[in-house]
Amino acid sequence: MSKVVVINHPLIQHKLTIMRDKNTGSREFREMVKEIGMLMVYEITRDLPLKEIEIETPVTKTKSKVLVGKKLAVIPILRAGLGMVDGILEMIPAAKVGHVGLYRDPETLQPVEYFCKLPQDVEERDFLVVDPMLATGGSAAAAIKLLKEKGAKSIKLVCLVGCPEGVKFVQDEHPDVDIFLAALDEKLNDHGYIVPGLGDAGDRIFGTK
Ligand code: URA
Repeated sequence: MSKVVVINHPLIQHKLTIMRDKNTGSREFREMVKEIGMLMVYEITRDLPLKEIEIETPVTKTKSKVLVGKKLAVIPILRAGLGMVDGILEMIPAAKVGHVGLYRDPETLQPVEYFCKLPQDVEERDFLVVDPMLATGGSAAAAIKLLKEKGAKSIKLVCLVGCPEGVKFVQDEHPDVDIFLAALDEKLNDHGYIVPGLGDAGDRIFGTK
């Protein structure tokens, strides 16, 4: 079974409280999404493999470490996932960015793909699928399924706020995918919102209604 990691660093908790407050406007909300994305990625990449190389400092020759291993790709689920991309790229500027767009079929209520553009070397990359809210888990599970169908072998899911229902759904569908959250909230309400949550993340990021 995959692991669920709640990265509850004090800086993240502080920024998340600002996001949760209904009086926080779009500009600050966007900034918080970006900054939390950045802080989370710092933790998520903690175990990236390193190798030692020889370099010369202005003082002497020495051995020092650089990253090796697979390259990363960030896959925001449209549209709210876009808000997390800039923060992640600040930490991993060489990462490629793919996009997955899904809408919910009004009759079947199942997520349907309307856009998918991925980097070419799918099998060679570690993927971070990003979406601020892990609510029902339907979109995240569908995006992960799509990536796997295209050949992705290594996928992590990164969300800001999750709930037990969404975590369980993704774990049942994709037991190989680790889930990283900034907070695991209480529940999903009858309207599909996470409680206490922070409302509609997409609308709050982009200032829409
Ligand atoms: N999507 C959101 O933006 N917010 C929720 O609470 C649930 C799904």
